[in-house]
Amino acid sequence: MSTTTHSSNTGQKLQAIITNLRKKSAQYSERVASEEEADYECATCKDRGIIVYRVHKDTPWELDEKKKHLVPEAMVPEDDFLSGKVCTPDKAREWKDTYSKQCECVRQKKIARLMKASGITEEFEKLVFGNFKTEGKPDMIKEAYDCAIEYFKDFENIHRKRSNSIALLGQPGSGKTHLSTAIMNNLIKKKSIHCLYFPYVEGMGNLKTDFDQLETKLDAMRKVEVLFIDDLFKPAKGQPRATEWQIEQIQSVVNYRYLNHLPLLISSELTTDELLNIDEALGSRIHQMCRDYTVIIKGDRMKLNHRLGD
Ligand SMILES: Nc1ncnc2c1ncn2[C@@H]1O[C@H](COP(=O)(O)OP(=O)(O)OP(=O)(O)O)[C@@H](O)[C@H]1O
Ligand SMILES: [Mg+2]
Ligand SMILES: [Zn+2]
Repeated sequence: MSTTTHSSNTGQKLQAIITNLRKKSAQYSERVASEEEADYECATCKDRGIIVYRVHKDTPWELDEKKKHLVPEAMVPEDDFLSGKVCTPDKAREWKDTYSKQCECVRQKKIARLMKASGITEEFEKLVFGNFKTEGKPDMIKEAYDCAIEYFKDFENIHRKRSNSIALLGQPGSGKTHLSTAIMNNLIKKKSIHCLYFPYVEGMGNLKTDFDQLETKLDAMRKVEVLFIDDLFKPAKGQPRATEWQIEQIQSVVNYRYLNHLPLLISSELTTDELLNIDEALGSRIHQMCRDYTVIIKGDRMKLNHRLGD
């Protein structure tokens, strides 16, 4: 009797020691894991850019139509497998198949780089289709909104064609910059397209003062996938800002893009006719490029200018 009590006491003590050790070991691995995670920008892929999974030998693989390759129906993270969370060592052989995919952080990093390179400010990042009002607005504003949405939807099919660009023209404050920026934000975030924002007045000023960089900057404007020229020839005191030098620089950019079928997003207070009057060669190229997606907003400024509304 006393022997049994003694041995059961020893057993309990041993059990307590083992439990304690297990707890400590678990705490230690948790600490190591969180210290490791803290060193990575992306804890999911540990900055490797890909995530490797293990697949059980009995798992069926299906053809993914979009990715055009076989994808397993179920999988476990390779890290879990290696740390023994998935199976006991004798079953490890059943999990020798692997499947890897790109981590979401790779796409997110690319988008962040594209946003930075595009010249879009934080304030402009907020200009999206979702916060553009059409209710109670004149038909012309709805038309501009529909045209911008359609352009974005069509983009993949038309971007190499002759008419691959969009021009929103006319009334100040009518939302031309808002809608064009929304297109640009979508092209970057949903399609990872390299875009560049060029605010005409400020941009032209910078080109002129930074003469050493002129060709480099113009070259970036010529070759970027999508260029947004905002407020082209913006009038000052009723007169379009279009000196011979300014026309020449814009001409060299637009001509390159025209010849190479590279899309433009254009906003301007001027109508197509007024653009043609400034320079017919330039105006007619812009007209051809934007033929299928041009809206001229003209009429009652009290109704059309969002800044004058309530
Ligand atoms: N329909 C709308 N719904 C919500 N906000 C709008 C709408 N139209 C314009 N805005 C807002 O009003 C302001 C003026 O619009 P925006 O700058 O796009 O006009 P614009 O046509 O480019 O004018 P400008 O010719 O003076 O450059 C912006 O802050 C924009 O976000
Ligand atoms: Mg504007
Ligand atoms: Zn990652």
